[in-house]
Amino acid sequence: MEKVALVTGSSSGIGYETSIALAKDGYQTFATMRDTSKGDKLKEIAQKENLPITVIELDVDNEESIENAVKKVMSDANRIDVLVNNAGYGQFGCTEDVSVDDFRKQFETNFFSVVKIIQEVAPIMRNQNSGIIVNISSVAGRMGLPGSPAYISSKFALEGLGECLRYELGMFGIKTTLIEPGVIKTNFFDSMKIPESKKDPKYKHITENMLAGLKMMVEMGTPPAQVAEVVIKAIHDDEMLPRYIVGTDAAMFMEAKKSKSDLEFEKYMSKELFPS
Ligand SMILES: NC(=O)c1ccc[n+]([C@@H]2O[C@H](COP(=O)([O-])OP(=O)(O)OC[C@H]3O[C@@H](n4cnc5c(N)ncnc54)[C@H](OP(=O)(O)O)[C@@H]3O)[C@@H](O)[C@H]2O)c1
Repeated sequence: MEKVALVTGSSSGIGYETSIALAKDGYQTFATMRDTSKGDKLKEIAQKENLPITVIELDVDNEESIENAVKKVMSDANRIDVLVNNAGYGQFGCTEDVSVDDFRKQFETNFFSVVKIIQEVAPIMRNQNSGIIVNISSVAGRMGLPGSPAYISSKFALEGLGECLRYELGMFGIKTTLIEPGVIKTNFFDSMKIPESKKDPKYKHITENMLAGLKMMVEMGTPPAQVAEVVIKAIHDDEMLPRYIVGTDAAMFMEAKKSKSDLEFEKYMSKELFPS
């Protein structure tokens, strides 16, 4: 029986590469995006390389759109073996500079949408007695930093959800994992939302410093295809791990975090971020 995958946010970056990698791995892949006119390149590759990719509409901020996309996959393929929750964006700015509404929007896209999709897909996987859910988190879901608390908090929430799902869905033979990339060279940084910093010049300074640092890191960032490779490795692992780190930057930060107390890590990061 042909295995079926559903990926969110396939129009670019990690979602785009993961859709191709899953199709190459033999999955009938439903590559979803909120604006299907952005799917032309993916369709072209699918046709040229004879890959089983179907582009369908899914706006993760819209519950009806999620329900319709899952229905469409079920009417076309009648099963879902792999779900990759990837769609997301970055809300930048210090806590006082970001409106509560913008915090909510960040959580809507990066967190609540994942809850809704899982609520639609988990019953299908429970009926199958099998399934895999891959949540694209971030190394930012493991450590707080100044300048993007809305984004970081949304990924911390996803990490919490991911740990709970291991027990809850594991009981039904459904495997789940969190992928934690470091800085990946994608459109993410161009589509980041950056508020005007008005409250205090120190916030403006921190935000600008963090953005400048990120810009430099993006130039040397890990290619998104490497994240896709890790997704494929994860779904083939006999014992799927709770989390997979991607990129040497992420590995370095997580190693430092593991070997230090919280206070030591905070001091280490302060030195890295604000060398005096
Ligand atoms: N790049 C990094 O350094 C990095 C590091 C760690 C984790 N991540 C995570 O990786 C995931 C993918 O990001 P990326 O780096 O590949 O960035 P990207 O190239 O900007 O891709 C983001 C994808 O999410 C989609 N998206 C955003 N809001 C959506 C919505 N409401 N409904 C449906 N799709 C939506 C975008 O669609 P549109 O084209 O329509 O905007 C796009 O397809 C995100 O969850 C991000 O947090 C990225």
